[in-house]
Amino acid sequence: MKVTNDIRYVGVNDHQVDLFEGQYVVPLGMAYNSYVILDEKIAVMDTVDVNFKEEWLANVSEVLGDRKPDYLIVQHMEPDHSANIANFLEVYPDTTVVGNAKTFVMMEQFFDLDPNMKRQVVKDGETLSLGSHELTFVFAPMVHWPEVMVTYDSKDKVLFSADAFGKFGANDVEDPEGWACEARRYYFGIVGKFGMQAQNLLKKAAGLDIAVICPLHGPVLSENLGYYLDLYNTWSSYQPESDGVFIAYTSVYGNTKKAALMLAEELKAKGCPKVSVADLARDDMPEAVEDAFRYNRIVLATTTYNGDIFPTMKTFIEHLTERQYQNRTIALIENGTWAPTAARVMKGMFEKSKNITFTETVVTIKSALKDDAAVKQMADELMQA
Ligand code: FEO
Repeated sequence: MKVTNDIRYVGVNDHQVDLFEGQYVVPLGMAYNSYVILDEKIAVMDTVDVNFKEEWLANVSEVLGDRKPDYLIVQHMEPDHSANIANFLEVYPDTTVVGNAKTFVMMEQFFDLDPNMKRQVVKDGETLSLGSHELTFVFAPMVHWPEVMVTYDSKDKVLFSADAFGKFGANDVEDPEGWACEARRYYFGIVGKFGMQAQNLLKKAAGLDIAVICPLHGPVLSENLGYYLDLYNTWSSYQPESDGVFIAYTSVYGNTKKAALMLAEELKAKGCPKVSVADLARDDMPEAVEDAFRYNRIVLATTTYNGDIFPTMKTFIEHLTERQYQNRTIALIENGTWAPTAARVMKGMFEKSKNITFTETVVTIKSALKDDAAVKQMADELMQA
């Protein structure tokens, strides 16, 4: 596939993966992107997952024809992109591997490299000329590992963006929900903790004239780039994207669920623009994390459990706080048959979070909801938040 006249897509689609990165379900599969830049010198941009060695090498070979690659540029050492470095060098041993100092430390850890391997260690902002294409390496530490760098081709105005602007889903199936849904779940799951570092990358990107974004996952982006850049700016600055309420609940016998669903109906009846509800024990956790970051208001409803809170709610809140959850309004619903303490525990878990407002109304259920007044009051308060 042609990205531009000189740039070819040589990536692969993975429909076998059960859990991406060992934890994310990917019902639409996953794409591991790789590119070849054809010029006086030839550069291959990253490799792919270990299971796609043959397919990827065949893709590269087809694009190269009789030529040999001059450079293998390694932007990210996570194995979904780097697993075939040694395999590539077995086929093309004269290639110079380009990375930064941290890249090569990790490469030595992952592989038993030939000490005679040609390597070029680059610094932030350093350039590499392929002939007519001049590549600039822009370091993007922690988006999503410390060694990550992105690469800008000034001739074709292409930003090779590493994991940034990636999404879940293979490139040979259409995503019925469009780009943003699985890109958001990917961003908050994988990069969400590193908003400041993603902001730094966006600031560097703002100084570049970009016509095409070539990420390491998901489709090549070449139209309406402002849409993607704006979303990334919203996500990485921890600002809500949508006006609405996300209700996350756990329920053992259905009574907490009943209160959560009653609140959802109250909010809808009052004209809340969007109400999304998830059962944390049964629905996809990364999807719930995504929704918590998407909306400006969330409701957490859970039971007191072993003097603490229900395990999936605890895990969920930990997912939020470790990703620096902030700038949101939170309402709490607790249930406990003899000593309900879940609201206090949940509130305490956000102690170190920035700019969190809790509603004054806390719904406390003792076993089963007997009176819907507190739920209605919470709905009123959330509508004004
Ligand atoms: Fe797609 Fe951080 O690896």
